Amino acid sequence: MERSRAMPEKPTYDELLKNEEKYRTMLEAVEDGYWETDLAGNFTFGNSAMCRIADRTHEELIGSSPRADADKNTSKRMIAVFTRVYETGQGEKLTDFELVTPKGVRKIIEMSASLVRDSLGNPVGFRGVSRDVTEKVMAQEALRESEERYRTVMESNPDPVVVTNQKREVLYFNPAFESVFGWTLTEHKNKILRGFIPKDKRVEAETFFSKLLNGESFSGIETIRNTQSGERIPVSISAAVYKDMSGNALGGIVTLRDIREKKRMEAQLMNAQKYEAIGTLAGGIAHDFNNLLMGIQGNVSLALFDLEANHPLYEVFKNIEKNVKSGSRLTAQLLGYARKGKVEVKALDINKLIKDISDTFARVRKDLVVIHDFSPALMPVEADEGQLEQVILNILVNAGQAMENGGKILLKTANVTHEDIDDSTFKVKPGKYAMVQVVDSGVGMDEETRKHIFEPFFTTKEMGQGTGLGLASSYGIIKSHSGYVTVDSEPGKGSSFNIYLPVSGKKTTEITPVPKSNLPGKQTILLVDDEEIVLKVSSKMAERLGYRVIKASDPREAVKIYQDHFNDIHFVILDIIMPNMSGGDVFDELRKINPAAKILLSSGYSIEGQARSILERGCNGFIQKPFSMVELSDKIREIMGE
Ligand SMILES: Nc1ncnc2c1ncn2[C@@H]1O[C@H](COP(=O)(O)OP(=O)(O)OP(=O)(O)O)[C@@H](O)[C@H]1O
Ligand SMILES: [Mg+2]
Repeated sequence: MERSRAMPEKPTYDELLKNEEKYRTMLEAVEDGYWETDLAGNFTFGNSAMCRIADRTHEELIGSSPRADADKNTSKRMIAVFTRVYETGQGEKLTDFELVTPKGVRKIIEMSASLVRDSLGNPVGFRGVSRDVTEKVMAQEALRESEERYRTVMESNPDPVVVTNQKREVLYFNPAFESVFGWTLTEHKNKILRGFIPKDKRVEAETFFSKLLNGESFSGIETIRNTQSGERIPVSISAAVYKDMSGNALGGIVTLRDIREKKRMEAQLMNAQKYEAIGTLAGGIAHDFNNLLMGIQGNVSLALFDLEANHPLYEVFKNIEKNVKSGSRLTAQLLGYARKGKVEVKALDINKLIKDISDTFARVRKDLVVIHDFSPALMPVEADEGQLEQVILNILVNAGQAMENGGKILLKTANVTHEDIDDSTFKVKPGKYAMVQVVDSGVGMDEETRKHIFEPFFTTKEMGQGTGLGLASSYGIIKSHSGYVTVDSEPGKGSSFNIYLPVSGKKTTEITPVPKSNLPGKQTILLVDDEEIVLKVSSKMAERLGYRVIKASDPREAVKIYQDHFNDIHFVILDIIMPNMSGGDVFDELRKINPAAKILLSSGYSIEGQARSILERGCNGFIQKPFSMVELSDKIREIMGE
């Protein structure tokens, strides 16, 4: 103990040699380059590692300058460092200096330098340690590059992407995420997004996330996410976990594709399929049902024809007739909803059509004030008159029902363009439109009701008061005319129904009204219909009207009869839908035999296009089953030009 406190004795020469040997061995063992220079900066010593770094032998190294392999700039930086070290006596570090060795290898070196003094304290040179950091720097550069690459991939990705840690805190959003969902990265980095996952999806999200952290990936999972403003957006989620080097899950990379458009298309497709199914169903029902109604209507017509108005049964039959009309209105509504039943399309003057309907309506509802504000220059539209009447009447009746205690209805028409149509729910096709607006001062509707009014069988009316088909069919009819309907309404503030129909380039066809009567005719009619009930009753009706009737229940037979007797047949009533041969083919055959043949089409419903195409080929007219004797008589006389 005593000894160790004493001053060390001066080392002997042997000891010095031994020490030097020890340090030399140590210097050779380290991986870093150790060097010494004189004050001019030329190497006076370097260990093997230093020789490796400088790509020189020991002999080559000694006397050379570390600046020899550096470019001008680096060389300047080195001189500056060495000068400072000399002046301050403080060691310094030089990082990232690049050199190209005599063997042409590019190296990035890190170096520390300090001042060497002699025993008197005078500076005699520098010494330091150099390290080859080429690989480290290159790896960092590569990493930066790859980060840059992935950032670009993320940022140009049109789908929203969010990266979270395993605590679900946000590490990254891409710009698409910000623009779809509204949250910004600057405000929400390292936070959990509150409200992003809707309440009803939390459990589901929880399950997915823990599965994700367990290494499962997902793709195409359809669910809902909220935007920052609380809008629910349907998304398709794909997610994968990212891990550290030892395979531990660090968090998730989640892509949330916005599938609003896809959902809209799917809904549209489903609607289209639904319409088609309903159309087929409605068509089938309408055909059979209208034939039955035709039988009833015909017989009632015949009975009424023979009854005086004061006969006790007269009212009974009148009531049956009314019920038949209701029945056929119902099928018309169904066909309208199914977008079928558009038969006779012609250029129409809507002002006149609305005026006629509203006059009739106003006569029934004397407690209402009906105001007209018609544009005198309203463009004609191409439409099926009967169907358009149906639409206007549906809306007027609804308005009336919304004003049980009286009120005001404004009927307005105007020429507008697509720009005047509120297109928030649909894309409006550019062009000119004729607008019909029906404004009432009735009870109005709340938002919830308004959302559903065009659905079939949606009604707020008591049993027996409404079937809920009025607006559904009106909507279908307007759609099948390539038009649009919009509604404005508020509870207590009345409602406004706005219809837009594309205008037609054609002129309205003015039909000269024929005096309506059922005076007996004198001519011969060929009646073609495969339905026994219809054939029987309508032939009786025509006979009662004074016509001579030839019946044909088979279309081929009808053609043959016409071939043999066309000189004696003045008129043909032709059913459109028949087995063996279509109404259209029969029509063509008859016109081949006699190009001037007068032919009236009749149908309970028409496959769209079929009736129209026959009418377009020059057929004289169309009568809808069930028809009364008066209607039949009027049609025949109209066509015969009497
Ligand atoms: N002008 C209006 N004012 C207030 N509510 C209306 C108006 N028009 C329609 N509605 C609401 O829309 C619902 C659906 O109307 P829609 O015409 O389709 O069926 P409905 O009138 O109930 O029955 P239907 O027309 O088949 O006899 C109505 O029950 C009513 O609640
Ligand atoms: Mg209605």
